[in-house]
Amino acid sequence: MPRPAHPSSRPLGIFDSGIGGLTVANAIHELMPNETLIYFGDTAHLPYGDKSPEAIRKWSVVISDFLLSFNCKAIVIACNSISSVAYDTVKKHVGNKAIVINVIDPVVDYVSAQAGTKNVGVIGTKATIKSDVYAAKLKARSKKIGVSSLATPLLAPMIEEGFFNNKISKTIINDYLSRPKLKNIDSLILGCTHYPLIRPEIEQYYKGRVQIFDSARIVAHHVQWVLDEQQLLHQGKAGKHRFFISDFTSSFEMSTKIFFKGKVKLEQKNLWK
Ligand code: DGL
Repeated sequence: MPRPAHPSSRPLGIFDSGIGGLTVANAIHELMPNETLIYFGDTAHLPYGDKSPEAIRKWSVVISDFLLSFNCKAIVIACNSISSVAYDTVKKHVGNKAIVINVIDPVVDYVSAQAGTKNVGVIGTKATIKSDVYAAKLKARSKKIGVSSLATPLLAPMIEEGFFNNKISKTIINDYLSRPKLKNIDSLILGCTHYPLIRPEIEQYYKGRVQIFDSARIVAHHVQWVLDEQQLLHQGKAGKHRFFISDFTSSFEMSTKIFFKGKVKLEQKNLWK
């Protein structure tokens, strides 16, 4: 009888409302090239940032089941809006079938451990900022940290449409970052998985005055640490990565190339029939 495959060879599930989560998938792929990735972007419902917590929870459970059908060893919620309002729901739903990782806790741990972090700014979608999860979690780590959060709802759709590194994106970014709310910050969390793509423009705005944190690499390192701890890091060659979207758009296909450096073949999978 053939020996059963080691549990570490099971794939890693990653999901987001669209392509933003590919920044996390890309960082995971760069750090752990042996892992097989199954990605799902719910482009049919994007943007999640403007949707109700109830709707986001309902869709997240269905997507988790889809990823579990691939026998994923872990599911990474590569979206701040989902992590803010649906992490507990997904974790409970998945139970002991897979490890569930969100994008907020690793960033909060990382930022609160930085010396000299006093006034943290957070930018993200309406859903993320309304949930106030970053402020609650940062303050739970350290009473000395002040948090100023600002919803920046134009940024994710702007990036999704390929508008960055140009005059329009500069105007929108400068308008948001110059708001009085963010005036006295010493650090800024990019609380949306789309934002690593505009990180250079944000850095240009602050010119080194503010420390900037995005989730992609921090979360990838956290995933590696968790898998290692559970002896689930895959040592052999990765299997075939698969990238699913619920609604095919040409802008999605174009942008995937910018978000994920490896080769991506998109497959349409409508879970909402
Ligand atoms: N990528 C999602 C996040 O991290 C935002 C995009 C959306 O609103 O759907 O919050």
